Amino acid sequence: MVIEQALTEGTRIIRESGAGETPLLDASLLLCHTLDITRVQLYTRGKETLSPDQKRRFLSLVEKRKNHVPVAYLTNTREFYNRDFYINEDVLIPRGDTEILVETSLELLDKAGNRDRTVLDMCTGSGCVGITIALENSDSWVTLSDISTKALKVAQTNISRLKASNATCIESDLFESMKERRFSLICTNPPYIAPQWYEQCSLQVKREPQLALIDDSPDGLDIIRKIIRQSPLHLHTNGYLVIECDYRQIGEAMRLLREEGFCEITAHRDLGDRQRVVSGRYSCTRN
Ligand SMILES: C[S@@+](CC[C@H](N)C(=O)[O-])C[C@H]1O[C@@H](n2cnc3c(N)ncnc32)[C@H](O)[C@@H]1O
Repeated sequence: MVIEQALTEGTRIIRESGAGETPLLDASLLLCHTLDITRVQLYTRGKETLSPDQKRRFLSLVEKRKNHVPVAYLTNTREFYNRDFYINEDVLIPRGDTEILVETSLELLDKAGNRDRTVLDMCTGSGCVGITIALENSDSWVTLSDISTKALKVAQTNISRLKASNATCIESDLFESMKERRFSLICTNPPYIAPQWYEQCSLQVKREPQLALIDDSPDGLDIIRKIIRQSPLHLHTNGYLVIECDYRQIGEAMRLLREEGFCEITAHRDLGDRQRVVSGRYSCTRN
């Protein structure tokens, strides 16, 4: 079997299984991973023959993809903000829409000017948000926190691989291990899928850790409520809180921020033009 035949066969198997909407892309990524080549080489070296071992490994990955295992878990990598992050089944697969959380955080850090640039990426998972901020703004000091020891191992791997020397990890249930620590900016993409929404999720999404996705309350906002209520104790005066949530939760998240004394409350749109990120500045001095 030559490369172009493998690509055609892999694409066919994935398409006929109904797993995912991008069978050609998925088969390409799995084949590149198996052969350790780029996507351009896939086409320029199309007539090269796969060794029996390469063929076996490729078809085994295609079989797993057919059973709805996401490509990122099979290749152990996902691109986020133009960098490759190490990914495994212990973490959420970074989403393109989450780049808005990064963009907003970087803009607000710039706006804050020269004061101390301590950032907390709460619910960090793979570390994609906090590590990107650390690398894009080398004056920042970024703490990555998560309740999951396994997720933090992945985040630590990404810190090392991407050489983010201004980022560190801490295990914490929300703010529990933060003691008196305060930050200039707290950003977070917490679990916010309500149980009834989770039922509608694809089999592929259901392969991702439930701990990363589900908030057990009927409106999916319990964790966000806790973060908004507790963050004033961990923000410097004029510090920013930036939260990703579902577009259906934006109104309530903005109301909660207002209730807690935040100002400059703003909703930010994702790539699909939906309001998905909300930010606010904590100006009160009473905490
Ligand atoms: C939606 S994922 C976000 C991962 C990553 N920040 C991203 O955007 O791709 C949510 C993360 O929150 C973590 N988490 C869930 N409950 C938590 C809690 N009570 N305290 C801290 N982290 C929590 C999960 O382990 C998971 O890694």
